[in-house]
Amino acid sequence: MHARGTRAHDARRARGLPALAALALAAAACSSEEAVAPAPPPLPDIAYAGPGPLAGASGAGGFRLGAASAATQIEDRNPTTDWYVFTLPRAEGGLGRGADFVGDASRGFSKAIEDVALLQEMGLDSYRFSVEWARVEPQRDVIDEEALAHYDRLLDALVAAGIRPVITLHHFSNPVWVDDPRRTDCAGGPGDDNLCGLGHPEGGPLVIEEMAEHAALLAARFGDRVDDWGTLNEPFNYLLAAYGVGVFPPGKAALLGDLLGEFVPVLRDYLLAHAAAYRALKEADAVDADRDGGAADVGLSLSVGEWVPARSHRVSDDPEDVAARDRMAYVYNHLVVDTVLSGRLDVDLDGAPDVELPGLRGALDWLGVQYYFRAGVTGDGGLVPVLNLTPCVNGLDFGACVPPVDETFCVPAMRYEHHAPGLYGALADLGARYPGLPLVVTESGIATRVGERRAEVVVRALEQIERARGEGVDVRGYYHWSLYDNFEWAEGFAPRFGLYTVDYGTYERTATKGAEVLGEIARGRALTGALRAAYGGEGAMTPEPEAAEGFEGCSGTW
Ligand code: BGC
Repeated sequence: MHARGTRAHDARRARGLPALAALALAAAACSSEEAVAPAPPPLPDIAYAGPGPLAGASGAGGFRLGAASAATQIEDRNPTTDWYVFTLPRAEGGLGRGADFVGDASRGFSKAIEDVALLQEMGLDSYRFSVEWARVEPQRDVIDEEALAHYDRLLDALVAAGIRPVITLHHFSNPVWVDDPRRTDCAGGPGDDNLCGLGHPEGGPLVIEEMAEHAALLAARFGDRVDDWGTLNEPFNYLLAAYGVGVFPPGKAALLGDLLGEFVPVLRDYLLAHAAAYRALKEADAVDADRDGGAADVGLSLSVGEWVPARSHRVSDDPEDVAARDRMAYVYNHLVVDTVLSGRLDVDLDGAPDVELPGLRGALDWLGVQYYFRAGVTGDGGLVPVLNLTPCVNGLDFGACVPPVDETFCVPAMRYEHHAPGLYGALADLGARYPGLPLVVTESGIATRVGERRAEVVVRALEQIERARGEGVDVRGYYHWSLYDNFEWAEGFAPRFGLYTVDYGTYERTATKGAEVLGEIARGRALTGALRAAYGGEGAMTPEPEAAEGFEGCSGTW
């Protein structure tokens, strides 16, 4: 049995005891050296039904066990993506932004077919990945047939292995011609080699049109093997990084200027692109590949955080901070889905939707939920003026950062806290807010070099999902982020999110304890009580050595 996990289990058991019983146990333990506390009853197994459809009533009760990745983060050298020119060193003609040059990433393009064996080894039933738009359409309206043939081969291999593909259309990357990071002023207006991007008065509608054409092409080409499509990945997070603070390409920083005038139009265009892609996928994918009742089940994936009210580096119950937390949760966790379901965008971010976005209303068959962190928000001083709040993000601490629930929950490589129960909280909240909308955890994971920690994150996520399902929340699967280590965007290659670690010298993939444990669960279609006792619960996790080596905290100082 695993020592840290046992501690976690003991802590949970102790918390569950009434105070008097706990006192009696403690007294008995003190009264005699030999006294042995009664063994806690074994934790029940959690059994999983087979995978089912992501959308529609018939899918309720089914459960998928999968892993996720994204093209730019794994695929070999591709000069036609915006990330390539954004991170290419200045001396070589790029912008030299971010921690590392994306380069060959994890060689996930040349190794795509052999990587299917990693999924098979774990017995996973589904794989969520993205098709690189820039590979398929390196120049505007010029289609690379060889790129399409590559994804054809990957899909064939997945289907032959009995693994359901879930394709993400847009996962944080663009062809350079969509919004060239080297020419963000867009002097002269949109042209074929630079559409000037989302939010641009003339270019925005062109980007929307192009995304819909791309969706239609993939649906027509791959729809015979794919039923599950995700249009956008973490819309708010992506737009914040790419157009809010500029740490992702194209590197525009609207938050520093006119938030409502510049950022909201970008959000509007992105959601219109979702609507257009949703319709295009539905029209062009007519084949029910899984023979489970739906030809194209189209959703999107949302990033959710566990936001806590904070002040002066402490959790706060001051009504100002509680209100600031609620505004943050609204904008970060709810705004996108509220807008898609109602079809109306809250353009002044005051909580009341006002502008109708044509074609958007109800364009969502399932919702992907992606959970990584717990963080504080304070109403004391407004770093984000329109919202009148200051969050604790990326180690930036203006008093909103709070101590972690347990210091082992700190994720040094990402400067935030991973708190497993936050996933339950998010699922319960979304389930209550959007009744009838099926949920699936399309990502959750941790940056760590310690296999036991990854195993703990896998088991604890599944326990928290079960807690939500037990209360009637319709959650249809769990995809661990990520299948193997990859390019963590602006953070470069240091954070390790993989079930398999990648040796960046040889590109060899090696299973972590996380892969072993997820494999045991997937092959047996059950999370056993023994695995739960070893890795589960809500207590301390195996520590990250980096945290012990003088690391200050999860997020700034506290
Ligand atoms: C993204 C992934 C990313 C992961 C870990 C999510 O925000 O979808 O691309 O690697 O989180 O940070």
